[in-house]
Amino acid sequence: MDKMRIRGGKALHGTVQASGSKNAALPILISSLLAETPCRFRRVPNLMDVRTTFKLLEHMGVVVKNDLGKNEVELDASKVTSQEAPYDLVRTMRASVVVLGPLLARFGRAKVSLPGGCAIGARPINFHLTGLEKLGAEIELDQGYVIAKAKRLRGARVAFEFPSVGATENVMMAAVLAEGESILENCAQEPEIVDLARALRAMGAEISGEGSATIHIQGKKSLQGCDYSVIGDRIEAGTFLAAAFATRGSVRVEGLDSEFLESVLVKFEDAGAEIRRFSDAIELVSKGRPRGTDITTLPFPGFPTDMQAQFMAVMAVADGASVVTETVFENRFMHVPELVRLGADISIHGKSAMIRGQEKLLGAPLMATDLRASASLIIGALCAEGETVVNRIYHLDRGYERMEEKLRALGADIERIS
Ligand code: UD1
Repeated sequence: MDKMRIRGGKALHGTVQASGSKNAALPILISSLLAETPCRFRRVPNLMDVRTTFKLLEHMGVVVKNDLGKNEVELDASKVTSQEAPYDLVRTMRASVVVLGPLLARFGRAKVSLPGGCAIGARPINFHLTGLEKLGAEIELDQGYVIAKAKRLRGARVAFEFPSVGATENVMMAAVLAEGESILENCAQEPEIVDLARALRAMGAEISGEGSATIHIQGKKSLQGCDYSVIGDRIEAGTFLAAAFATRGSVRVEGLDSEFLESVLVKFEDAGAEIRRFSDAIELVSKGRPRGTDITTLPFPGFPTDMQAQFMAVMAVADGASVVTETVFENRFMHVPELVRLGADISIHGKSAMIRGQEKLLGAPLMATDLRASASLIIGALCAEGETVVNRIYHLDRGYERMEEKLRALGADIERIS
């Protein structure tokens, strides 16, 4: 199992390119199931979760011509042979459940393993299933599988109980081939939803309102292939900005719109960083030690839960105290005991963590527990004096493309050990 060795204490400086967004790419790759002719996708990040998605699509009979070295792929779903997402694949990547909507819409049936819980929370899919039922799907649960059927889905009004990202994606991908109009309310407004809507439009879908709480969809009889390029990864970009800030450096991240990260940029400013915003880049210049600042995670446009762990690592070395409140997932403080091993002073009180910033951290052996927790430990290690080894780095490989290479180019002393 790979590990990451980091010798901390160096400020990060320089320019880094954002990769394509993982969370946009996964549903967009899956949306190829809706098209009768091949789709070409560009700026697809070369990540474990993307390769798992290819396996999942191949399992269904999609022909995958993968050129991930160039971040491109062609997906041909003209001859789908199976509408099943098996346990082994869904277990390794929960985002697999968004195959339900497109399979049901195009083929009238889908059998998808229930994902089960994961390290950061229970993560049920009840909002996905209720939304699909509103479109006319008949759903039953059988031996750990969701079995969904419908002759042809019918457009309907779907009001989500919570703006779930996955549920919004699943129901959008179902509604584009349903008969008639759908109105989706209380939708997730994340940039990844907007990107999926654009990709679907490129296939011929009729969608409007994405990025707001209400999405209108006029169902089509069929969709065709497209050529579409994925947006930049705002969480990866935010991670580099956090690493630069925590180490008191300065960094320019290119390849994404600064608006995607506004809620995070405002907090970096509150904590004392200087931020410059561009339509295709973000610059952060630290002005000394970060200051303690409170955050609360919320659905977009609020502070993203996927940046909470990394922000906490910055606060661990800030001047003053801060409170981080997690409202999206129930168990997302797994990084706390590991940051404490570096000498951070953090205590958990229910949904909140109180961080008393320390002048310095000291390197230690650490264990990564989930994707964003791993990124937070890397940031902690980059600040810490001496050597840190982060174990179980495969979590990081699920979501960050060539992270150690990119950090090395910014001046970090980091290497992967096999
Ligand atoms: C997506 C992102 C993930 C991010 C999250 C929130 C992908 C592949 N993953 O996950 O990185 O952290 O959005 O921004 O894009 N919930 C229910 N019932 C449901 C659906 C969700 O109770 O049917 C709950 C979840 O348990 C969680 C909250 O709603 O507590 C948010 O989940 P959701 O927005 O659906 O996140 P994901 O789509 O799983």
